[in-house]
Amino acid sequence: MMIQEILRRKRDGQTLDHTMLRLVMNGIADGSIGDAQIGAFAMAVYLNGMRREEAVALTEAIRDSGQVMRWDDLDLDGPVLDKHSTGGVGDLVSLVLGPWVAACGGFVPMVSGRGLGHTGGTLDKLESIPGYDVAPSDATFRRLVKEAGVAIIGQTGSLAPADKRLYAVRDVTATVESLPLIVASILGKKLACGLETLVMDVKVGSGAFMPTPQAARELAEAIVAIGCDAGTKTSVLLTDMNQPLADCAGNALEILEALRLLRGEKGESRLHDVTRALALEILIQSGIASDIADATRRLDRALDSGEALERFSRMVHGLGGPGDLAERPHHYLEAAPYETEIAADASGTLGAIDTRALGLAVVELGGGRRNAGDTIDHRVGLSRIAALGQRVERGQPLARIHARSESEASAVSERLRAAFSLSDTSSDAPPPLIHATLRREDLP
Ligand code: URA
Repeated sequence: MMIQEILRRKRDGQTLDHTMLRLVMNGIADGSIGDAQIGAFAMAVYLNGMRREEAVALTEAIRDSGQVMRWDDLDLDGPVLDKHSTGGVGDLVSLVLGPWVAACGGFVPMVSGRGLGHTGGTLDKLESIPGYDVAPSDATFRRLVKEAGVAIIGQTGSLAPADKRLYAVRDVTATVESLPLIVASILGKKLACGLETLVMDVKVGSGAFMPTPQAARELAEAIVAIGCDAGTKTSVLLTDMNQPLADCAGNALEILEALRLLRGEKGESRLHDVTRALALEILIQSGIASDIADATRRLDRALDSGEALERFSRMVHGLGGPGDLAERPHHYLEAAPYETEIAADASGTLGAIDTRALGLAVVELGGGRRNAGDTIDHRVGLSRIAALGQRVERGQPLARIHARSESEASAVSERLRAAFSLSDTSSDAPPPLIHATLRREDLP
């Protein structure tokens, strides 16, 4: 069948089958389909949507457009699993969850991304660590998954190559915001890692990728349905992004925070609670734990014994980083040369935070990219970010800026101050951390 006939079908609101979608995705991957046809495909899907079985077929076609990892020849004595997030600010869950779950008997081949817009990226954070190689050989990646139980690396050219071109065309044709295209893009890449179980963290709130709670919920339902239909046990936690998850944001600062959590020093934090909730879900859904009590015991043991930290250290060392990062983090993670605080200009209770603005401030300080290809400064960011519901007196700090210079810090300080809304009257309780959990059996 000619590509233009497939495009005509989709344009006219008809359904595409497996064979047609494979033809299109393989043609995108091997370059035989041009950008004009990719744009027409994306727009036709954007305007007409997709039926559930069609979106499953698209996800599978993206997954199969390149290498699909297989793990059965490694004789792993536990399930292959992963967690993925739609992205946020101060969201360093992956850095902690991967080694924590590995210490409980899971195997985590985590293929992560870079910062996107106002959100941070796991790879950028890991590259704060001198020597850490996010693009190791296939053999090294597989050996680490087997020996450390976890390896976090970047996307290789051979993994779901159709998505890379399709996403680039969507980005310039106003077709990013299409539910079936988003779900197939996210899941196509993840399922190419050969996962048995996937837990997705879909963020809700002022720093989230999906603009409204309703849109986040629809994305979550589509991910569960399509992931399960494509053969990977998939569940979603809808978690709060109305404030940064950690009380810091910035690449090296977040690695330090991950180490604190893995040492068991942050038991009382939102970051700990969301990471634990996602880890509990993954242990139960994968069958490693029989119930919540069993999963909780395993997670506590992994943290208290130091095994989770040990897995992180093994991963870092195995990918070229220092073997003693956990013992001497400040020796390896450079601090920004200039630090200052932003102070509240009135007293009140912190009622709202423009989380996106905080993420953009980190980008502006040099901690993210304005253009693809920009180099980033791993040292900069924010720390001691005040929390929703906290009482702040005039003159007290709302956050600490870590910058390259005084002038770069003052360039963002007014916008940062404006991102915190203090109110005399606010008696609203902070939003819940976990808005909902969705599994296949919960679907309408
Ligand atoms: N993240 C992805 O990987 N793909 C999308 O389409 C949107 C977010």
